[in-house]
Parts: sequence; C-alpha cells; structure tokens
Amino acid sequence: MIFRIARSPEGRRITRYDDYNLSVTKGMTVLDVLFRIQDDIDPSLSFRYSCRGAVCGSCAMLIDRVPRLACRTPVETIKQATLRLREFPAIETAQLRELGDSVVIIEPLPVLPVLKDLVVDMSSFYQRFEEMKLWTDPEDGQEPRTQIPAELSRFDRYANCISCAICLAACPVCDSHTEFMGPAALAKAWRFYQDSRVMNRGRYLEVAKRREGAPMCELVMNCVKACPKDVAPGGAIREIKSTGQ
Ligand code: SF4
Ligand code: SF4
Ligand code: FES
Repeated sequence: MIFRIARSPEGRRITRYDDYNLSVTKGMTVLDVLFRIQDDIDPSLSFRYSCRGAVCGSCAMLIDRVPRLACRTPVETIKQATLRLREFPAIETAQLRELGDSVVIIEPLPVLPVLKDLVVDMSSFYQRFEEMKLWTDPEDGQEPRTQIPAELSRFDRYANCISCAICLAACPVCDSHTEFMGPAALAKAWRFYQDSRVMNRGRYLEVAKRREGAPMCELVMNCVKACPKDVAPGGAIREIKSTGQ
C-alpha cells in the first residue's frame, strides 16, 4: 500500500507529498505505519503522539481527508468510508476517488497552522479555553460537593473530551470564521454549565452565547460524526442555542 504523506519541512505550508510503499499486516494502525517510516525509511518525518491509546489526543491528523486519531485508525478500516462529513475545501474527497484503494493520503489537521509535516500549532485551539475561562473558580469553604448519578449524566459525555481538535478540523464554520469559538470549547462551556457542583454556572452559558459562540454554529454536525470520544459537541451547542439565561 502507498502512503502519500504531506511534507512541509519549513513549516507553514505543504510543499510536497512523499510516497512510501509499505506492506501492512492486519491490525497495524496509521501510527504504526508512521513509526515504520520514521524508523526504517525517513527519520526526518515529523508527527506527534504520546499515549498510543486514544487518551492524549495528540496524534490527530487528516487520514484520507477525514480527521482521525492515527493511533486508533487501523489501516484496513481507512477505505471503509462511513462518516460522510459535509465537505469543504480542506476535506474534499474527489481526489481520493481518482486514486483508488491502494493509496492513502495523510496530511496535517486543517484549520490550524502547520508547524512541520503532520504537526500543527494547537495554540489557537487552547487559546479559546483561556479566553472563555473554561475552568472552575476557587471558592471559600471545605465542604465536599456530592453528586447523584442523574446529575453526573447531564454532562458526563462532554467531560470525555481529550482536546484533540478533530471537531475543529472537521467544522466548516471554523474553517471560514477564525473568530468562531469552535465545538470543543462550546462543549466544555456546556459541561461546566451542567455540573451541579459548580457555583456561578451562568457565566459559562453567558460566554457560550456570545456572537462568536453558539450563534455562529450552523449545526452541520460534522463535529459529532468525527469526534473519536463520542462527546457530541453539536448536541451541546444546540442546547446552548435553546437555553435562556
Ligand atoms: S470534542 Fe471530541 S473531537 Fe473535539 S476536541 Fe474533544 S474529543 Fe476531540
Ligand atoms: S455543528 Fe456547529 S460546531 Fe459542529 S461542525 Fe457543524 S458548524 Fe461546526
Ligand atoms: S497517541 Fe494519544 S491519542 Fe493517539
């Protein structure tokens, strides 16, 4: 199988695609392929990873024009296109159909600036959390805050986010409007707003309802389809849109 990998040795933009022809064994993931290339063929290839178990979120990249975790994507599943994302220029699939099943294209996540090869600059992604103050405020007192399962279930799925930025890379609004807060940040805001242990919950809803927040989302739901942890940010955004202060 041929792996066609986007290269940008100087950073900022893709300058060429390199082809690597590898025989793949059953169960091999895209991350395994990248290690094989780096170890045996081209040590200059750059990519990011840490946990290798879909926990750290650092190996997100565009695999055959779908944003996915490299460590969680077995090569034999790549061509079984089931996601059907609404396309925008960065994730257009017309070229894939021409190439057929023997070539896999691997590229950095779109929307975020490229640092080198498959490594993107996540600063603007994290900056949204900072700007929206998506953390709990320190409070007086030492009393434990208990929570019953029904209260936990209101935000449980949103707390599973691993900050991989796949939802942002899949979102056509993030691609065309850099000021949009994006699905991950809005899902996190909803997560705090729904948490019964948090005081001053209204501030999370207030920030999420700003012009560059939930009102900008067009409910395309690419973020829901692409999220590897079933966080469903688009569902949270729909709730934010319909909830009054
Ligand atoms: S919501 Fe899902 S896709 Fe988005 S950053 Fe979190 S885990 Fe990744
Ligand atoms: S639902 Fe909203 S945030 Fe999610 S992909 Fe669509 S426009 Fe982007
Ligand atoms: S290496 Fe951590 S999520 Fe893939």
